[in-house]
Amino acid sequence: MSTPTPIVVPDLLPRLRADLMAAGFTVAGVQAHLGPVVAGALMREQALPAERATRDDGHPLSALIRLFTLGVEVPFEAVDAALPTLRAQGLLALGLAQRSGADVAALCDLRPYGTQDQDWWVASDLSVSSRRGPLEPDHVLGIGAASLTLASWTPRPQVRRALDIGVGCGIQALHLRDHCEQIVATDICARALEFARFNAALAGQEWELRAGSLMEPVAGEVFDLIVSNPPFVITPRAARVPMFSYRDGGRAGDEIVQDVVRGVGALLAPGGVAHFIGNWEIRDGAHWRDRWHEWLTGTGLDAWVVQREVQDPAQYAQLWARDGGHLPGSWIHDELYAAWLADFTDRGVEGVGFGVVTLQRPQVEREPFVDLVEVTGPVAAPMGPTVLAGMAARTWLAEHDDDAVLDVAWVVAPDVTLESHRRPTDAQPQVMLVRQGGGLRVSRQVDTTTAALLSVCDGDLSARAALAAIDAVLAATEPEVEPEEDTGSGAQHDQVAVIRALVADGILVPD
Ligand SMILES: C[S@@+](CC[C@H](N)C(=O)[O-])C[C@H]1O[C@@H](n2cnc3c(N)ncnc32)[C@H](O)[C@@H]1O
Repeated sequence: MSTPTPIVVPDLLPRLRADLMAAGFTVAGVQAHLGPVVAGALMREQALPAERATRDDGHPLSALIRLFTLGVEVPFEAVDAALPTLRAQGLLALGLAQRSGADVAALCDLRPYGTQDQDWWVASDLSVSSRRGPLEPDHVLGIGAASLTLASWTPRPQVRRALDIGVGCGIQALHLRDHCEQIVATDICARALEFARFNAALAGQEWELRAGSLMEPVAGEVFDLIVSNPPFVITPRAARVPMFSYRDGGRAGDEIVQDVVRGVGALLAPGGVAHFIGNWEIRDGAHWRDRWHEWLTGTGLDAWVVQREVQDPAQYAQLWARDGGHLPGSWIHDELYAAWLADFTDRGVEGVGFGVVTLQRPQVEREPFVDLVEVTGPVAAPMGPTVLAGMAARTWLAEHDDDAVLDVAWVVAPDVTLESHRRPTDAQPQVMLVRQGGGLRVSRQVDTTTAALLSVCDGDLSARAALAAIDAVLAATEPEVEPEEDTGSGAQHDQVAVIRALVADGILVPD
């Protein structure tokens, strides 16, 4: 039987909040208390350094870390001292812990989480290391790397209605509160909804929680913003492969992500945007973009997909066979590993992509844009502002013709630099690169004309005037080159494709 979920007791929650805050049980407080080495190990789910560091110091913060992060039993009086207004009895009443002889044992994981301006706490089921055993099928996951990726990549403009599909512990919804008037959050798992209810109440927030699969609970409604960290893990539909609701949507292959791609459009208001993450299969020598074109066809949605990583079938199988607590070397682990490999072989899967997806319902009748890019290196954090600006730029480009692009006096973004590479013996550079310092940290090779154009993009000259001036200078300095036919507007329009790409990347921005 699964562990009971926390209980919202309105009178006790302010006391819990105040005690946790006073004890310094915040992201910054715990980091400072443990130090970078121990905190770093904990981030990698290595509990032993933290267990040793907090064992004997009698510090209230150590008691809370041991109880809620490490899943270690803590004496009643130590909990009373760490939570002086709530006391250990209050924790029991909230269903966060239970009595174990003279000790208190946590029933769930409770971790500080926050932004620069906010301190929150997130309750979820105890992790694999704290439980010391395999997880239950309805395990409610705490904040993981995928949760943090989605939170980082979600832009935060003010909107009216927002939806979080697969709310789980509620991390995405916590962030939505700052910039969305109304929040609806769904989950198929009743325990997840109970954790979400508790975490919302602990943060003093209100979300409308609905039970059901994917878009079913909100059918017929529209939203300005949809976020989802769906159960996207590709899982063999084979006997004895455990089904964990936090990672497995119960569909074959990557169909759960396909369902989200094909389904969210009906829920988006004109101009509305969906941000989600997921895995996709790369099959039989096809390109990863082929799968996306197949999924997007007929949706009418703008799409910007950033593939961040590709794993081969063995890497993917290794990762997910052990997730859930089945250790390498055990027969069940090896059986699961083999099931994943067989499942991939059946469908000719050669790789699994992971990335961040932004879909938008266009505000006006037009051809949707589709931009499928691969960026595997480090990117800015948070990425939300880049995604917001990138969607605005792509939308503008989709709604304006080449003449309009040439009419703008573009400006080189402040984080862009130009690198020239030449052999020491050569006078002229062989390679010129424009490099973005922030955002996706794009770098693009440019030719002489584009480098010259960028050098005059300071908001004074339209692109049309700048290109005409550059053409004139190049013609004067390279008289031996025979002019091609129709150099005028034809050459300018060739440059427009380059300008469009630079604008989409955020290398050129409007003044
Ligand atoms: C990876 S967790 C994400 C939790 C949280 N939103 C986050 O970002 O960390 C996926 C969540 O989707 C839920 N889920 C699984 N299948 C679902 C379905 N068919 N419809 C809606 N939610 C589902 C799971 O119960 C789980 O809470």
